[in-house]
Parts: sequence; C-alpha cells; structure tokens
Amino acid sequence: MDIWRIRGGKSLRGETDVQGAKNAVLPILAASVLTGCRTGLDNCPDLRDVDGSADILRCLGCRVTRSGRRMYIDSTGELSCSIPHELMAGMRSSVIFLGAVLARCGEAVMAMPGGCELGPRPIDLHLAALREMGAEISESGGNIVCRCPKLRGASINLALPSVGATENIMIAACRADGAMVITNAAREPEICDLAEYLRKMGANIRGDGSSTVVIDGFSPRGEVSHSVMPDRIAAATWLCACASAGGEIKVCGALPEHLVPVTRALGEMGCRLGFCGDGIAISAPSRLRAPRPIATKPYPGFPTDAQALLMAATLKAEGTSVFTENMFESRFRHVPELRRMGAEISTEGRVAIVRGVPKLHGAPVTATDLRGSAALLIAALGAEGETVLHDSGHLRRGYEEPAEVLSALGAEIH
Ligand code: UD1
Repeated sequence: MDIWRIRGGKSLRGETDVQGAKNAVLPILAASVLTGCRTGLDNCPDLRDVDGSADILRCLGCRVTRSGRRMYIDSTGELSCSIPHELMAGMRSSVIFLGAVLARCGEAVMAMPGGCELGPRPIDLHLAALREMGAEISESGGNIVCRCPKLRGASINLALPSVGATENIMIAACRADGAMVITNAAREPEICDLAEYLRKMGANIRGDGSSTVVIDGFSPRGEVSHSVMPDRIAAATWLCACASAGGEIKVCGALPEHLVPVTRALGEMGCRLGFCGDGIAISAPSRLRAPRPIATKPYPGFPTDAQALLMAATLKAEGTSVFTENMFESRFRHVPELRRMGAEISTEGRVAIVRGVPKLHGAPVTATDLRGSAALLIAALGAEGETVLHDSGHLRRGYEEPAEVLSALGAEIH
C-alpha cells in the first residue's frame, strides 16, 4: 500500500515536463514482438504498467533493457506464445499482446486481462475481429487460446470505436495476408503513435486518426527507433491540479491539439490558458466557476480518463457542474471519497452533479483506480489541511514520480 500525505492550500507555480504517454507505450511494446527486430524506444515513462509489459516481453523470450527514458527490446530470438496469469492480471492493456503474439507465433495462450475496475470491460470486439481474420479461439479455465497459422485480411466494422480493439487488429493485421479495413475505428492520438511505430517496422498503414484504417502489406525491418508521444492525460492532470490548488504553471511538451475539450472546460471555469509550440500554460482565477455540462465521448470528445480529474477541479467552483460518463459503467468510484473531503456530489446512473462548495477539508481517502486516485490528489491540493491518500499502487501505474512533479511546483506532498 502506498500512502501519500498531501497538505493542501499551496498554490502551484513553475514548469513541468510531461511524461511519455502510458496508453501509447503499452501497445507499442506489445507490437515490438510482431516480427524479430530490435526496437529502441525513447521517452518511455517509468511506470508500473510499463514494467509489467517489460515482464511480459521477457517471459515471451525478448531481451529488454532500460536506461533512463530509453528502452531497448530485442525480439529476434525464439518466442514463447503463452503469458501466465500473474503477468496478465496486473493490467487490462495486456490484451494487446494477443494480436501480436498470435500474428508472430500462429498461436497465443493467455489469461483474461486484469486492470482498473471500471465495471465490465469485455474483450468481445477483440476476439470477434481475430475470428474474422481466421483465428480459432476457445476459452477454458480463465485462459484464452487463439490459433491461426496464417491470419488473413478482412473488413471489420467495430460496433464501438474501442481503442484496444483497434490497436489489436492493427497489430495483427500487419502480418495478415491481404488488406485489412477497420471502420468505426478509434481515432485517439495513441492510435496514430502506434501506427507511426508500425510504419517504422515496415507496415503499410493509412487512415489512422480517422474512422477508417487500412493495413495492407508489411516489409519487416530489423531495427526500429521511435519516441513515444506526450501523455495527454498526465498533462490534463497537472492542469486540473493547478485549477484546484490555484497558481500558474506550464506543462511543457503537452500538445494543445490533443487536449481541446479539457482546456475548453478549464477556460469556461475561468482559467487563463496559453498555448505555444512547447506546451500549455494555465493560470487559475481566485474562484472557479462551473463549466458547461461535460459528457465523455471517444476522441475527439471529452476523454473518459479526464472525467474524474476535471470533476476534482470543479468541487469548489461556483455553481453546478454536471458530468455524464458514457464510456464506462463504474467510473464514479472516486465520488464517495471526494465527499469525505466535503464535496457535494450526487450521482444517478451515469450522471454526477457537483454543487460547488466554498471549501474542502483534508481527510483519509482510499483510491480504487488510477484516474480516481489522481482525482483525489487534485482535490487534496485544493483542500485545507492534510489528506492521507491510501493507494494500492494505482498512481504509480500511470504517473512517473507524481510527488516529485508536484513538489517541484510547490505542493506539499510526501
Ligand atoms: C483505453 C485506454 C483507457 C481509456 C479507454 C477509453 C489504454 C491502455 N487504455 O482502454 O485509459 O479509458 O481506452 O478511452 O489505452 N468494449 C467492449 N468490448 C470490447 C472492447 C471494449 O464492449 O471488446 C467497451 C468497453 O467496455 C468500454 C468501451 O468499449 O465501455 C471503450 O473501451 P476501449 O476503448 O476498448 O478502452 P480500452 O482500450 O480498454
């Protein structure tokens, strides 16, 4: 159990560099086994989920080394096709290994993936797509067994623009015979970063970033070098932290075009935002006001991963803030914990209504998921007194040295 002690009421000032994107590096690490090659990956964040992926890669037979933010993966040796339960259980994104291992080995055996508890998180779209590509899939004893000596291209219309399913199909399709067309594909920037990496590996991919992605042909290369894109959700976290605590910071390296719905909401709350080539600056007003209603949607809509973060920043805003969570069923688990700090929030189904209060107070709180934990941190920075955040490793799954980042900006956090 990690215990974070946060003494609120200190405004934030200064600059921080945004880390590499967790949700981009994880699928790229999975894709690195697609063919026997050597990958040099820069801007790799130091996160528990990245360590988890590295453990999976080693278990499959890759050589993985790390020096600071650079990771090196050598997948040229013989590869195993099975991933044991203890490695899969740690994170949901491990399902991305399915397409990569199947495409490389003709077989993949792995436990059902774990990850944040955000309600039911099925992988039916991943499996249906691989079946369309010719895979035979059975499930037994909590394991998924996939076999297909040679995948073939297909046309797949996703019922939902699932990020993970789009990535899994893109990766597997690189080694398929014939063209693969994905319609209603996810459009998240992390999809484009993965596509960029796959292109460097030798894949012919077009349309990434739009709803139709076409993968057609692969001429494998032995060496690949790539730099992971900046983490837009980590950037949103520090911007919301500043809104909550007050002050003026700059998040260097954050890309404004990736964060339009979040910065728009912060602007509606009275924050002044500055966009420049090398980051996003924010200056918080003395009293925030409620933004227009927020509804989470697939990219380019408001990101579900920033819902809890922005909610934490609205707790003291004048007026009523309304949040509708459309992406996941149980994504208000931070709400009862925020109430312990004096927040006034009611929920009904997928809607949460925040009535701004003049003050929050520190309290003992417990995190139940990664972004929920970050939300508690954000609220704690804007609260009076000490908050003790009990967190069973959630923050370290997605944030590189959160205490160091915030302390350097003037927060009191241990
Ligand atoms: C990814 C992100 C996660 C983010 C989410 C939505 C990574 C490692 N994680 O998760 O941080 O919150 O996108 O932006 O990139 N669904 C199905 N069947 C499937 C797959 C998904 O019903 O086979 C549903 C899910 O239950 C969910 C919705 O589709 O309700 C979106 O999920 P998806 O886009 O797949 O999220 P992840 O890829 O798991």
